[in-house]
Amino acid sequence: MEYVKMADDLEYSRVVLGFWRLMDWGLSTDELIKYLEECMDIGITTMDHADIYGNYMVEERFGEALKKRPDLRNKMQIISKCGIVYKDYPVTETHKARVKYYDYSKKHIKGQVEKSLQYMGIDTLDTLLLHRPSPFMDCGEIAAAFDELKAEGKVRTFGVSNFLPDEFRLLKSYLNTPLITNQVELSPLRMGNMENGVINLCMEERIHPMLWSPLAGGRIFTGDGEEEVRLRETLEIIREEIGAEDIDEVAFAWLFSHPAGLIPITGSGEIGLASRPIKALDYRLTPEQWYMVWTAVKGHKVP
Ligand SMILES: NC(=O)c1ccc[n+]([C@@H]2O[C@H](COP(=O)([O-])OP(=O)(O)OC[C@H]3O[C@@H](n4cnc5c(N)ncnc54)[C@H](OP(=O)(O)O)[C@@H]3O)[C@@H](O)[C@H]2O)c1
Repeated sequence: MEYVKMADDLEYSRVVLGFWRLMDWGLSTDELIKYLEECMDIGITTMDHADIYGNYMVEERFGEALKKRPDLRNKMQIISKCGIVYKDYPVTETHKARVKYYDYSKKHIKGQVEKSLQYMGIDTLDTLLLHRPSPFMDCGEIAAAFDELKAEGKVRTFGVSNFLPDEFRLLKSYLNTPLITNQVELSPLRMGNMENGVINLCMEERIHPMLWSPLAGGRIFTGDGEEEVRLRETLEIIREEIGAEDIDEVAFAWLFSHPAGLIPITGSGEIGLASRPIKALDYRLTPEQWYMVWTAVKGHKVP
């Protein structure tokens, strides 16, 4: 496993484990503990959460495992996110959210961090991400929330998710603490963030982007559209050329070959699948192979 320096005294594993689908994995607490141990044994030490995952249930389920095995906490880096409020979320004892919305008030940010810490039974988040940009965000207030959370020792580092370059620059201009990552969607089937300046800005900032749905949520294997079929055929050709075991390794190798130092988040609850991106770290694609994938997905040659 490779490890990536994200900030002073903070490294992430090059492959991160995402917990969005935890409730679908159907694991008991003991099975989850075993899965966490297996992942850490193969070097995956960074865990990606959000307050809303599993309709606000995931962090609590994860916390049940950590409360039973508190020794695991210091062997991992824990990321969480806040900002999205689901419709019907009990915002107060007497009021449920009437629509889905974003809340980046200091009160909401600090309140959600408190809940994440409480549910997971931990004292500090290694990183807090703002889940999605909001046209209504008050950057000065976000800066104040970050300062207080840092001073209180509740969050070590901060970042964003799904921010476009102008949104990233705007927020950054108000902060007293660096934004250490932008977690965005990227896979061979969803290349938009390579084309809209998001990945370029991360490189300019010398920070590592984190990638969600690096296998397009499994669509790379199951999709029956023309682009998915062309992609699988091309991944298979390259798989044979580089001697990889399966096409998932080639899809991850396509991401790892990019110069931005991309950090994919695997969404699998099976150790066999979670280990696949680690194997892919052994491969780097040539420019020709990289563009074979690009061309297969786009359905046309480069200009
Ligand atoms: N910041 C954001 O806005 C945002 C949004 C979405 C997700 N995320 C984060 O990103 C993480 C990953 O997203 P994701 O779950 O969509 O990722 P993904 O890895 O692209 O998709 C996961 C799905 O693909 C399957 N899969 C995973 N590895 C496989 C492999 N090697 N071969 C075959 N199938 C494989 C899984 O199957 P099994 O179910 O059988 O394991 C699962 O159904 C989430 O858990 C979350 O932490 C962040």
